[in-house]
Amino acid sequence: MTAPSTLGENSVLHASATLDPAFRVAPVSRRTFGSFVEHLGRCVYTGIHEPGHHSADADGFRGDVLALTRELGVSTVRYPGGNFVSGYRWEDGVGPLEQRPRRRDLAWHTTEPNTVGLDEFVRWTRKADVEPMLAINLGTRGVAEALDILEYANLPAGTALADQRVENGSKEPHGIRMWCLGNEMDGPWQVGHKTAAEYGRLAAETARAMRMMDRNLELVACGSSNSRMPTFAAWEAEVLAETYDQVDFVSLHAYYEPLDGDIGSFLASNVDMDRMIESVVVTADHIGAKLRSPKKIMLSFDEWNVWYQSRFKGTPVPEDWPVAPRQLEDQYDVTDAVVVGSLLISLLRHSDRVTSAAQAQLVNVIAPIMTEPGGPAWRQTIFHPFALTSRHARGEVLRVEPSSPRYETARFGDVPVLDAVATWDEDSHEATVFAVNRHQDEPLVLEVDVRGLPVSAVREALTLSDDDRTATNTAAQPDRVVPRPNGTAELADGRLRVQLPPVSWSVLRLGQGE
Ligand code: AHR
Repeated sequence: MTAPSTLGENSVLHASATLDPAFRVAPVSRRTFGSFVEHLGRCVYTGIHEPGHHSADADGFRGDVLALTRELGVSTVRYPGGNFVSGYRWEDGVGPLEQRPRRRDLAWHTTEPNTVGLDEFVRWTRKADVEPMLAINLGTRGVAEALDILEYANLPAGTALADQRVENGSKEPHGIRMWCLGNEMDGPWQVGHKTAAEYGRLAAETARAMRMMDRNLELVACGSSNSRMPTFAAWEAEVLAETYDQVDFVSLHAYYEPLDGDIGSFLASNVDMDRMIESVVVTADHIGAKLRSPKKIMLSFDEWNVWYQSRFKGTPVPEDWPVAPRQLEDQYDVTDAVVVGSLLISLLRHSDRVTSAAQAQLVNVIAPIMTEPGGPAWRQTIFHPFALTSRHARGEVLRVEPSSPRYETARFGDVPVLDAVATWDEDSHEATVFAVNRHQDEPLVLEVDVRGLPVSAVREALTLSDDDRTATNTAAQPDRVVPRPNGTAELADGRLRVQLPPVSWSVLRLGQGE
């Protein structure tokens, strides 16, 4: 990382920002704080579900994971995949347990016992107090099976599949509103991968039929699997040209990791997320303009996270099809948590168009919550920025117009050292600033002009940073990395001043004084 050219050797880095209700973006959408449970690795089995665990309830759900899910502040949970859904037969996962078949899951090279399926998942969401978001299989299946699962899930008793749900123990319809029309259908790794033309037609016809059965749906068309796909943007344009009138959202997926040890670029990952969001917005609006449509397509960023994909070695033993093996169990450190905090800043600042998102995933698989079978559950480092942002981002999102020193990155060019966004909650009269110092060596003094808002005191200032950026939380040391009070924060004469340590994420809560 190069020091900003405007500073002398011993200068302290300074950045500034302004809080003003006139810089309103949009209301905070609770669905920004979604998560994802896929039948992958130990996310379901020994993740959310482990009968026999000392904390498990009568349905076999781990109580410790339920408690941590609530603490994380999750709003929606996408299910059951991911790549898994593109070969999934939802019928396998309902009805008497002893009649459920075991199947090979081609996506992750495992055996799916189908112990948990749709009804169990919905029951879990009620206990976790989250909204279910269901993905349907448009890889190996189509319109008929989409209508079947919709009838089973959402219709009142009186037709064959709705009656089957009642027989299976769920008298009331599940009332699922958000449905993803397939998963990453642009990816050649996807079972049933399609071209944009093939997928666009199928998604449009599926959506049309689903709405004929249930008008109260919010439908998500698959966008690109990531912004490096050769078809990125062209895919969205072609798919939306077919589906524009039938869907409400287009999906975005993005995972970040340090490449070749380049931490400077990694810390600026959300620059890529910003660009991706803005590219999809203009692409969607271009299609809307061509169709002369007054409608705006919203964005569902329904897979995002830090994922050490380069460490993922695939599925090594071709003959072996294990049940719920350890897969994608990344251990997150301090830098990863700072990056996750900054990705949330990006999502929030685009709240006018990104009104749904899901961190991938919830438990054990690239996850904020880890468990040991028969053992404890604990919070990874990335748990903390998510939980605090979900808890304190309330009211309206405000841009903060930061002015910051900059540094050069190999992947994203020249980027600011500071990134920040704020929220203002009229009801509680609380303003909250979320801020990241991306500098690897220098603290950053941030000064925020708050004269535009009726706030006069710092209610709480917490910072996540550590001298050892590789520190992680483990079963043995679950609280090695936690956010700590930042004693440097002070508010006087309408200005908040705070020192942000190098590689840090902070939440600064401001309100009225005594
Ligand atoms: O979240 C892990 C995988 O990443 C999902 O199954 C897939 O949709 C994406 O490629």
